[in-house]
Amino acid sequence: MNRRISVAIDGPAGAGKSSISKVVAKQLGYLYIDTGAMYRGITWALLDQEIEISDTAAVKAALDHIELQLVPVEDGLRVLVNNRDVSKEIRTQYVTSHVSQVAAQKAVRTKLVEMQRSMASVGGVILDGRDIGSVVLPDAELKVYLTASVETRGHRRWLELKDKEDITLEEVCRTVADRDTMDMERKESPLICVDDAVVVETDHLSIEETVQKLTELIRNAEKGERHG
Ligand code: CDP
Repeated sequence: MNRRISVAIDGPAGAGKSSISKVVAKQLGYLYIDTGAMYRGITWALLDQEIEISDTAAVKAALDHIELQLVPVEDGLRVLVNNRDVSKEIRTQYVTSHVSQVAAQKAVRTKLVEMQRSMASVGGVILDGRDIGSVVLPDAELKVYLTASVETRGHRRWLELKDKEDITLEEVCRTVADRDTMDMERKESPLICVDDAVVVETDHLSIEETVQKLTELIRNAEKGERHG
């Protein structure tokens, strides 16, 4: 039987981390933890409670009253905030345009990183986010940096959003690029590609090809093989 490992997947906005990780985890019987959904859940709660998100003291105080749960279901994960299912709400452009400002705050990261490590401690897990290989699971047996050009990523995100919201391709590309800048330039756990990550560029890969590539990397890492 294969050893069950911890897999860290990081990368910029819209690189396909969650779509790919969800499928691979299901195929391999791994637990998938979408850490971005957790930052989105907190952001939704703060906006819903009309907390001024630039006020770090107010955000910190509000965190004590936000109970976040990730519930694995057949087709992915449900995100519950104080027992309310907000899985759809957290994907709106409104939440997306505020999440990086919330995710830059130390108190928010401390709370969520602790939850993420505790959820990951069962082993056989795939976590995706921005700081998984660098901060959350620095000892992960496999680290992947999934990326693509801003145009490809913006286009993919626009295809997901265009039937739900009135938004142009240019606006989506701009939000993706702005979020990348904030996530890469922040002081607390910025998005970086760690030295021991395998870089996977997905511009010219289909979802199926990327799933296959990741599955192969995991199978090899389960056997203890290193990549570089
Ligand atoms: O799916 P997408 O790439 O659009 O983003 P996401 O994974 O849902 O993450 C949303 C936002 O949460 C990111 O832009 C980051 O600001 C933040 N995030 C983070 O700071 N650290 C993580 N481990 C995951 C997400």
